[in-house]
Amino acid sequence: MMKRISHGPGPALVYCKIKADLERLRNILSAALPQVQLHFAASDSEAAPYLPEAQILYGWGFSGELLRKMPNLRWVQKMGAGVDDVIDAWPLHRDVLLTRTDGRMIARRMIEYVIGAILDRTARFPQGRQQQQQRVWHVYRPQTMANLCIGVAGLGEIGTEIARALRLFDARVIGWRRSEAPCEAVSEIYAGSARLPPSVAQCDVLVLVLPLTQESKNIFDAPILQQLPMGAHLINVGRGGVLDDQALLAAIDSGRVGHATLDVFETEPLPKGHPFWSNEHITITPHVCGPLLPEDVAAHFIENYAAFAQGRPLRNVIDVTRQY
Ligand code: OXD
Repeated sequence: MMKRISHGPGPALVYCKIKADLERLRNILSAALPQVQLHFAASDSEAAPYLPEAQILYGWGFSGELLRKMPNLRWVQKMGAGVDDVIDAWPLHRDVLLTRTDGRMIARRMIEYVIGAILDRTARFPQGRQQQQQRVWHVYRPQTMANLCIGVAGLGEIGTEIARALRLFDARVIGWRRSEAPCEAVSEIYAGSARLPPSVAQCDVLVLVLPLTQESKNIFDAPILQQLPMGAHLINVGRGGVLDDQALLAAIDSGRVGHATLDVFETEPLPKGHPFWSNEHITITPHVCGPLLPEDVAAHFIENYAAFAQGRPLRNVIDVTRQY
């Protein structure tokens, strides 16, 4: 249920570790919210003077610990779709509201990443590049996405947008989600943990777009990955913690997973000694597929700020008991 805010808001602290983005946020927010007392910080030490007074916190890269040092905090808006990095701080000292960014604002690049990863395999570019290095002219057949069953695990805003885009390639797109809610972007929907194995069993490509919660942690473990058809392509653009790293390595060894394209990892940055780095069947990108660009996402904070100030319900409120 949406919470209602009745008192006028005090100062807001905007926190972003990327200095260039912080400056862009300063320009956008100062112009859009001239009446608001805004403070800007790129680190905990820069934030320190504002923590006692700030009632609103917007941004990303801060810890749950920082929130505990904000006695007047009333609302936190995460810049980003995930809140797993701060959710452990709840319940906070007061009834503090938590909202996240509307995933549709960051979905475009994630859609392109997923489609690029799939096409790289179906068009067989790696094979072309390898043959090029050896000056070999050996004719092979690219595949088509239209022959694939692609599963999207996680049908929130981003997963739904990805599924919708994949259907334009005539792929059979199925979806898995925790709840029974319908989703028009997929041709079949599987809901609940009991339906995860039969959905995974059909996926030539499996795209993970799940939030990390206590419930989703490591759900893609050995028994689930074992359900995949041989040679499946696994793509993770949600959170690394939903996938069991050792189970993935074993699934690659057995040929169950033919390739994994991973943008997110249980530990980030991925530790130097991690076996994923040297695995030729894994493509690694450093959590870049859905960048949080101020120009794309600040509008959500501005809109929510107006609602907060007027005591109206906010968009994308996190249910802290469900953690998303
Ligand atoms: C997000 C992210 O949470 O970028 O949006 O990971």
